Amino acid sequence: MASASLLRRNLDDLRDTATELAGLRELKKASASLKAESAAQAKAVQAGSVVFRNVSKTYQSSAGAVPALQDIDLEIAPGSIFGIIGRSGAGKSSLLRTINRLERPTGGQVLVDGVDIAQLNESDLVRLRRRIGMIFQHFNLLSAKTVYENVALPLKVAGVAAQDIARRVQELLQLVGLQDKADTYPSRLSGGQKQRVGIARALASGPEILLCDEATSALDPETTQSILSLLKDINRRLGITVVLITHEMSVIREIADRVLVLEKGRIAELGEVWRVFGKPQHDATKALLAPLQHTLPEDLQARLVQQPPKHGGYSRILQLSYSGEGGREPDLLRIARSLPGQPQLIHGGVDRIQGHAHGRLLVAIDGHATLPDLQSLTQGPTAIAHHIEDIGYVVESEHSR
Ligand SMILES: Nc1ncnc2c1ncn2[C@@H]1O[C@H](COP(=O)(O)OP(=O)(O)OP(=O)(O)O)[C@@H](O)[C@H]1O
Ligand SMILES: [Mg+2]
Repeated sequence: MASASLLRRNLDDLRDTATELAGLRELKKASASLKAESAAQAKAVQAGSVVFRNVSKTYQSSAGAVPALQDIDLEIAPGSIFGIIGRSGAGKSSLLRTINRLERPTGGQVLVDGVDIAQLNESDLVRLRRRIGMIFQHFNLLSAKTVYENVALPLKVAGVAAQDIARRVQELLQLVGLQDKADTYPSRLSGGQKQRVGIARALASGPEILLCDEATSALDPETTQSILSLLKDINRRLGITVVLITHEMSVIREIADRVLVLEKGRIAELGEVWRVFGKPQHDATKALLAPLQHTLPEDLQARLVQQPPKHGGYSRILQLSYSGEGGREPDLLRIARSLPGQPQLIHGGVDRIQGHAHGRLLVAIDGHATLPDLQSLTQGPTAIAHHIEDIGYVVESEHSR
């Protein structure tokens, strides 16, 4: 009797477990389909990725073959701002123009949202180009058309109904701050305003990628700032991937997430801006970044010598560099305590790139004092900079200390 009831209880337990298992299976199924749904959603939101696989490009000219790009392997994350820098002729424009197939690679693949764009037929290519806006250094506006007509043009070509065009153009002009210029002709606009029209036109068909080739090079610094803010705003608000070429390193420092340094058609460096700019490895990068460096003031440079002077008082100049790693900020008290005598801050500055301190300080210490172990001052919890360099001696002038 006892064993029969035990058996029944076991059976009941087994049945419960089976039901539970079935329920779990259902739950699993439901969660899998939810996952798939959210993955699809994420994919939809994440449109705007570009992948280069072993891309090369060789132009054929009358003078022979010109290799412009070689072994380009990289990914541009959707929704990011990706900077391309390099010396003139490095292949920047060639690379950018492969993204919307204005240039066809000679080898390798360019994938936009996972699709090899070399495979697209003519009508697919038209659709691709609607998903990729482009702005140029010289704006490329039609001078015989008003601001409104310039922005409306891509929509007209795409066969959008007139009332929809009117609504969309108003929205776009509002976005770029030109709502009161709809009927103005380009010749009456400033450079910055022209580029705003260029941006509005590039955004007309709601692209997921915006290509910018030297878009701020013809503008003064203040206007450049306002266009950069606009591009950043567009990137953040609309989630559009921005790929930009510039000769102005401050532009990259200001808005890019990652940067590619091209040199003679090849990848010289690639990475997050604060890393690449904080510790440039390649000569091309160092040369490009030179304008951002704080150089020694002229009067000090003139008095800088590599050996301690034989006569008179002199100071030793140390250069403390900050490359952004580990979030280290210059700690003035610690610097003063770690260096001999009464160190004086004589020149320098610290910028911030993507929240990381980046820059250098020139500090003068008593030239006769024993130099501390500089290596130990760049490591561990007592470090005062990422890198310290002894750059020489300056004879004290009457006013220098
Ligand atoms: N259509 C073309 N025919 C032949 N050679 C070309 C063509 N376009 C570019 N090149 C060559 O390819 C190389 C890369 O040119 P590209 O225009 O991509 O350089 P870039 O980095 O954009 O230069 P810049 O900073 O001066 O604009 C250069 O040597 C250039 O002369
Ligand atoms: Mg170019």
